[in-house]
Amino acid sequence: MSKKTWRIGVAGLGTVGGGLMKFLAVQPDFAPAGGRAVVTGVCARSRSRHRETDISALNWFDDPVALATSADTDIFVELIGGSDGPAKAAVEAALALGKPVVTANKALIAEHGAALALLAEAKGAPLLFEAAVMGGTPAVKMLREAMVGDEVVSVAGILNGTCNYILSEMEASGRSFAEVLAEAQRLGYAEADPTMDIGGFDAAHKIVILSALAFGCAPDYAGAEIEGLDQIELLDIKLAGDLGYRIKLVASAERSDAGVSVRVHPALAPLDHPLAQTSGALNALFIEGRRIGRIFIQGPGAGAGPTAAAVAADIADVMTGATRPVFQRPAVGLPRLTAVDPAHRQGRAYLRLQVRDEAGVIAAVSETLAEERVSIDSFLQKPAHDAEGVPIVLTTHAAPEAMLLNAVRRIAALPSVLQPPRMIRIARV
Ligand SMILES: NC(=O)c1ccc[n+]([C@@H]2O[C@H](COP(=O)([O-])OP(=O)(O)OC[C@H]3O[C@@H](n4cnc5c(N)ncnc54)[C@H](OP(=O)(O)O)[C@@H]3O)[C@@H](O)[C@H]2O)c1
Repeated sequence: MSKKTWRIGVAGLGTVGGGLMKFLAVQPDFAPAGGRAVVTGVCARSRSRHRETDISALNWFDDPVALATSADTDIFVELIGGSDGPAKAAVEAALALGKPVVTANKALIAEHGAALALLAEAKGAPLLFEAAVMGGTPAVKMLREAMVGDEVVSVAGILNGTCNYILSEMEASGRSFAEVLAEAQRLGYAEADPTMDIGGFDAAHKIVILSALAFGCAPDYAGAEIEGLDQIELLDIKLAGDLGYRIKLVASAERSDAGVSVRVHPALAPLDHPLAQTSGALNALFIEGRRIGRIFIQGPGAGAGPTAAAVAADIADVMTGATRPVFQRPAVGLPRLTAVDPAHRQGRAYLRLQVRDEAGVIAAVSETLAEERVSIDSFLQKPAHDAEGVPIVLTTHAAPEAMLLNAVRRIAALPSVLQPPRMIRIARV
């Protein structure tokens, strides 16, 4: 029996699209059980731009919606990006016709996933996005498929390679955030506009998707708490190291009886912890299930080859008919989980204070913490390094976050405290 040929329409021929084109040009039979995947139509912004794969014999579309709805497209692959605009219009158009869609677009899925899942399931069309989170490292299928027999209570990890690269380089080279960011932009590791990465928004898109898959709920990007890297100074990286920690941008989603807590923020991880040891552009993720216990995966979160491999894995799922509900449970009636009131969370923190070098300062800080019932775990005072006072650093035991924040506010108002305190959470990992 001859193998079925699936006609693939690829919208977006940049890093990921280019990688996929290269791969399918040489290996259309990569999933023999499903047939052959042959690209027949493509779309990008510029028709004249040089592409690494010869596209001269393929159907060119200026408009991604036209490619998505073309009678010659069996599977529509969206690799343009952006939560709205042409990517969303094309994905909706394909799904409305019942066509399978594969995308790497985390912004689209995190912000519009619930509505797209309803459309996909109403039309009986698969909507797959393995490449949207952790690039080539299979986190989406793990949560959507392999963990279905368990109850996931938390996922936490490093989901943005650009931020992780910057933190690793700052520590290794002793250079400032601004210097390392500028170099990352020169080398193409960071976008010209780095806001999505540095501001924590890219990691937030990804953790929102993972939380929906982990807890079988609607993705809720608006409910995510997002804090980026922009406040991190080299001094904090050094002082955290002296205390036995490394600073990482940690994305986490936890479920409890009180609801769900989805957030991205810098956090200290103990130096021997796998998250602390995830360096450079790598991504890493812990998944905790009630029955399975803890799982740890680590791998490339971006790049043409790894990301295209994840897109290809989704294409294989379509071709073999191995698809599931978009977010693990049927889209109709997908629960929206209540966000936990941050004030009710418990956590530990690192506090760096710049104080006058005079008697009684440490006593005043300790008293304020004690009054808010926050107890000190460790304390570090560095020798004075300039006329602006001395840095003191302490870590706390677990305390309600509301009390920690109150204590920080009150410490900031002490006359001997020269700058607003820097608080960085200690990862609950
Ligand atoms: N890069 C990664 O490693 C990575 C990893 C995981 C997920 N992703 C996701 O994958 C998607 C693509 O990322 P990328 O890095 O490959 O982006 P990219 O290199 O910037 O490529 C974007 C492509 O989309 C095309 N495009 C832009 N606007 C268009 C429009 N209005 N109509 C038609 N085509 C348009 C561009 O055309 P021209 O080439 O003509 O400019 C380009 O080919 C994004 O959702 C991203 O978040 C990327």
